Amino acid sequence: MQIFIEKDYDAMSVKAFEVIKEVISANPNAVLGLATGSSPIGLYKEMVKDHKENGTSYKNVKSVNLDEYVGLGEGDDQSYVTFMRENLFNHVDIDLSNTRLPNGKASDLQKECDDYNAYLDSLQIDVQVLGIGSNGHIGFNEPGTAFDSVTHIVDLTENTIKDNSRLFNSIDEVPKQALSMGIANIMKAKLIILVASGKNKADAIKKTVRGKVSEEVPASILQRHDNVILICDKEAASSIL
Ligand code: GLP
Repeated sequence: MQIFIEKDYDAMSVKAFEVIKEVISANPNAVLGLATGSSPIGLYKEMVKDHKENGTSYKNVKSVNLDEYVGLGEGDDQSYVTFMRENLFNHVDIDLSNTRLPNGKASDLQKECDDYNAYLDSLQIDVQVLGIGSNGHIGFNEPGTAFDSVTHIVDLTENTIKDNSRLFNSIDEVPKQALSMGIANIMKAKLIILVASGKNKADAIKKTVRGKVSEEVPASILQRHDNVILICDKEAASSIL
């Protein structure tokens, strides 16, 4: 695992952007694995800025996202599809039909997981962006998720519901379930970039980097991937310094 410790959130975002830019420059048909949450917002801002200033094109790029809340989808403010459109897709020249997230409003959620998984199997993700939950989750793979898991329906933990409630009007509005790529899907990416910012990620980062590889800390599996770049700000890195 390569580790970069940057002075703050903005520097972390610029570093992550540099890695993504290299992937897209080398391969304009790249497949990007994308994440939501506050951690990658700065990265997406850099991608938009670069697209506008330097004309970097996403015309032939495909994207797949990690996860989506059950019950939310297109047209819902808190859905991850809306997040992706507002933070990235609407501001670059990516073809929306080349972007895909699990559909949290599908009538048959298990079939949606199976279809999403088949789609993932038909692709090779060139670079997967990850954030990390304060409990070490990646995507919505909560502690205890099998390392060989593929796209599945997740019951969110109280911890995650509480962490994510800041983005909803009240904790009662946070969906209790989500659809998420599994750990095995994530591990198939050629390159993984994990971005982490803030003190509340320090413990999860320590366990990810230095802890025992255990299903109790989903991100610890990244120790077994041979091409991971961890980019932290100083606060998130405070327990590994
Ligand atoms: C959610 C997402 C994760 C994300 C995590 C951390 O649970 N499903 O993919 O990494 O939140 O979010 P943030 O970056 O806002 O701290």
